[in-house]
Amino acid sequence: MEVKQLTLSNFRNYKNETIKFNSGLNVLIGNNAQGKTNILEAIFMCAIGKSVRVKKDKDLIMWDKEFSKISLSSTKSNFSKNIEIYLFQNQNKAIKINGVPIKKMGQLMGEFNAIYFCPDDLKLVKESPEERRRFMDIDLSQLNKIYFYALMKYNKILAQRNKLLKTTSNLKTLNDTISIWNEQLAECGATIIKYRLDFVNLLKKFAFDLQNYLTENKEKLELEYTGIVCESVEEIKKELLNQLNKSVEKDFDLGYTTVGPHRDDIKIVVNGIDIRHFGSQGQQRTCALSLKLAELEIFNSVIGEYPVLLLDDVLSELDLNRQNRLLNKIKDIQSIITCTDFNFDVKCTKFSIVNGNLELTLKTD
Ligand SMILES: Nc1ncnc2c1ncn2[C@@H]1O[C@H](COP(=O)(O)OP(=O)(O)OP(=O)(O)O)[C@@H](O)[C@H]1O
Ligand SMILES: [Mg+2]
Repeated sequence: MEVKQLTLSNFRNYKNETIKFNSGLNVLIGNNAQGKTNILEAIFMCAIGKSVRVKKDKDLIMWDKEFSKISLSSTKSNFSKNIEIYLFQNQNKAIKINGVPIKKMGQLMGEFNAIYFCPDDLKLVKESPEERRRFMDIDLSQLNKIYFYALMKYNKILAQRNKLLKTTSNLKTLNDTISIWNEQLAECGATIIKYRLDFVNLLKKFAFDLQNYLTENKEKLELEYTGIVCESVEEIKKELLNQLNKSVEKDFDLGYTTVGPHRDDIKIVVNGIDIRHFGSQGQQRTCALSLKLAELEIFNSVIGEYPVLLLDDVLSELDLNRQNRLLNKIKDIQSIITCTDFNFDVKCTKFSIVNGNLELTLKTD
């Protein structure tokens, strides 16, 4: 999978700009606040349909403009794909794939695959379980539409169950009505858990090898899904339904659903130590990078092609040895990386960015 060309119109600080990317390493170089991250943000939007930085689409439109457009040409399995996203001040965004408007966001999933990594992704290791669930959800939604739709449905039913827990006045009435929600929640919750278990099984294998590679065998990384761990979807469903039924009284007292995949996590252990609480900053950063690079391998093993790797300001966070190891690892896939300075003797295409204007400065063969 490769990005061939990106055109931005009135997107953030880009009035009208077209960038042609090459295979391999593409480096976007510029001082702070010139528009490097804006480009990665636009590309990643074409993979997941929304910004990783802001919730409101209108924040992406150039100030004082009415609408904005992102147009991305890519290749997947040697087929060209053109994705266009139109953003408006006062109406919902519109998306077209090869000129045909999509009706549901699920149609975009998997059309163009990318992985985005920025220093803030340290949160993936350091912060609450929500970050790790988001990590799984973003990847699995891109990898499988069934997952995306199950997740949408799960969130909807969960909100309805929570509303019921808050608005029902007594436990007896609740017991009469809640079983239908428990059944539906267990049904799509089991699908989500099954996909996540398979995902973490792959992730742990790849991340273990990558952590070894990045740390020269000094750090052993182990991952474990914390939640219901059963072999089949049926068994997971049965267990989840059982837990939901058992937790009705507790959930009623608290006013929200206390069991299910929306509460699960991935436990991250390095050399026997829970890295979230006891890891050094450097260990946590390297772990986050191993997880991100493991994503690349998962995509490759599931869809038979590497996604585009977007690395935002990641090199400056690593020591020289790890920088070199990282560049060596990714040299054969298309990656687009941003930095303020780049002095490595590697094959790459370089662009310089000044105040929303981009210029090709070097292409090495
Ligand atoms: N909606 C918008 N309209 C116009 N300009 C915007 C909009 N949103 C953000 N900007 C501007 O875009 C500029 C570049 O942002 P970006 O985050 O891409 O910078 P960067 O090059 O990645 O910088 P850094 O090295 O600090 O990460 C900022 O100066 C910001 O003010
Ligand atoms: Mg930036």
